[in-house]
Amino acid sequence: MTRRVRVSLNGKWNYVPDQYRGGEKRAYFVRTRPDMTAPGKDPVDHDMAGVATIPVPASWNMADPTLHYFEQQLWYYRTFRRPRMARGQRAFLCFEGSYYRTRAWLNEADLGPEHMGGFTPFEFEITRQLKAGENQLAVLVDAARDADRCPTTVTDWFTHGGLTRDVFIEVRPAKFVTSWYIQLDKRGRNLVGEVSATHGGTAVVSVPALGVEARVKIDAKRLTGKLSVPAPRKLVRWSTDNPKLYPVTVTFGDDVLADRVGFRTIEAKGGEVLLNGEPIFLKGISVHEDHVTRGRSLTDADREDIFREAGALGLNFLRLAHYPHSRRMAEMADRKGILLWEEIPVYWRILWTNPKTYADASNQLAELIRRDRNRAAVILWSVANETPPDVKGRTEFLANLARLARRLDPTRLTTAAQFHVREGGKLVISDPLAEHLDVLGVNQYGGWYGPRAQVDAMADFDNVHYPDKPVIVSEFGGGAKAGHRGREKFSEDYQALLYRRQLAAMNKARGIRGMTPWLLFDFRSPMRENRHQRGFNRKGLVAEDRRTRKLAFEVYRRFRPKT
Ligand code: GCU
Repeated sequence: MTRRVRVSLNGKWNYVPDQYRGGEKRAYFVRTRPDMTAPGKDPVDHDMAGVATIPVPASWNMADPTLHYFEQQLWYYRTFRRPRMARGQRAFLCFEGSYYRTRAWLNEADLGPEHMGGFTPFEFEITRQLKAGENQLAVLVDAARDADRCPTTVTDWFTHGGLTRDVFIEVRPAKFVTSWYIQLDKRGRNLVGEVSATHGGTAVVSVPALGVEARVKIDAKRLTGKLSVPAPRKLVRWSTDNPKLYPVTVTFGDDVLADRVGFRTIEAKGGEVLLNGEPIFLKGISVHEDHVTRGRSLTDADREDIFREAGALGLNFLRLAHYPHSRRMAEMADRKGILLWEEIPVYWRILWTNPKTYADASNQLAELIRRDRNRAAVILWSVANETPPDVKGRTEFLANLARLARRLDPTRLTTAAQFHVREGGKLVISDPLAEHLDVLGVNQYGGWYGPRAQVDAMADFDNVHYPDKPVIVSEFGGGAKAGHRGREKFSEDYQALLYRRQLAAMNKARGIRGMTPWLLFDFRSPMRENRHQRGFNRKGLVAEDRRTRKLAFEVYRRFRPKT
């Protein structure tokens, strides 16, 4: 049995911006020298061994100031030596995330269909294209906005283009596991899951500390097999107080995979969120994956900033908005006992009736779930944020995504951030999408958007239409420029007043079982350009330096939800 071998391709790559997007037609993936002297040959305009290099992983916008607002195509180049491979082994070029459309060529051979989606892992097989000695790799990344994508052309966040997450080569046996997970079922009686592989056969999923050795028959046609064994009595549940993780290995022929998995149940019942059968109030906060100098490419130390501030606020929950964050967030949350809401960027007005748009959204959801469904910390898959309930095709589009999430992972809950509406003297959720979700998110900015008098609006909230479905206030709050004092909007004092009034109002509401105010850190957004914002959305409780806490931070830290 052989453990897989990984060779990192992180580091300095050569690069060539392709502002007019001509490189695919003009074969920028072909290795030719720019100073062509051969007669009858045109000089080329790209340069694989150019003088300019860029770090991988990185947002190109942050790595090269000339590319700050660049949202077109960039060609990345590097060479590497063929990794050691035993006879019959296979090699894969793996990307943890690349924004947005990605193609790759190895030794001038096209590695296959483009990948769409900027936040989740994907790979190309390179076994055939590899050659002994030095190999030439060309990668095209296209960050252009396009109406038929998720997200679509307008977002209230900064577009970080490029190879923003790790890139590596992985050497595997000829037959290998393509995806697997194991988790407690919702009633906590069985360990369930599945193993998918490149070929039919038998996989063994073992949890040595629990004496579990589950044989999983993988069907040769469907290339997947289900796992279900009684949960051992001695199993210690993962929880926010005791985030217990068990070493798990999966063996399939020569392939061996290992992970550390926490076993817990999560349910939505009787209007409550139940963690291991007990009601839990999710006191959390929303987070963008955005760093003032590293953009989307956070380090673990940057992620520790998030957990440090969440700990100081006394939180047990984070909403990772509005797209899949790095897998490292869920791995760290697993160890720290912090629950997570993970989300795909089906944001605002998407092309609901366009098959390409649904293919993009469903692919990103599938890639996210397959990446993180072994993470006990992840309890919610969110399929959308603030989408118009009355637009043709929207509810069907989102209901299909919720069904896909349940098929890929029957052990977790589905949600989305929606709007509320006023019905008589009440604020209610009456969105047809709610039928298809387990937990209902509602965004509410009383006192920030709309008349100040609405600051107490949430006191009228009553989940009359879906009393069995717990509600999370997935956004509330307002902006403040750190250090700006006074009574008007964008002063710290007004933001603090908003939090005091909105939180007091929520404690009078009915059906609220969690909250993730908008948001922890100020973040870049080209939409936000007034004198207090200057390119940043300033609704953070902490400034973009990830250190300077605003007055509202203390208001939220002291807040105790009515449970
Ligand atoms: C919206 C949206 C966020 C946005 C926020 C704001 O609710 O979901 O992405 O940043 O409001 O207005 O700041």
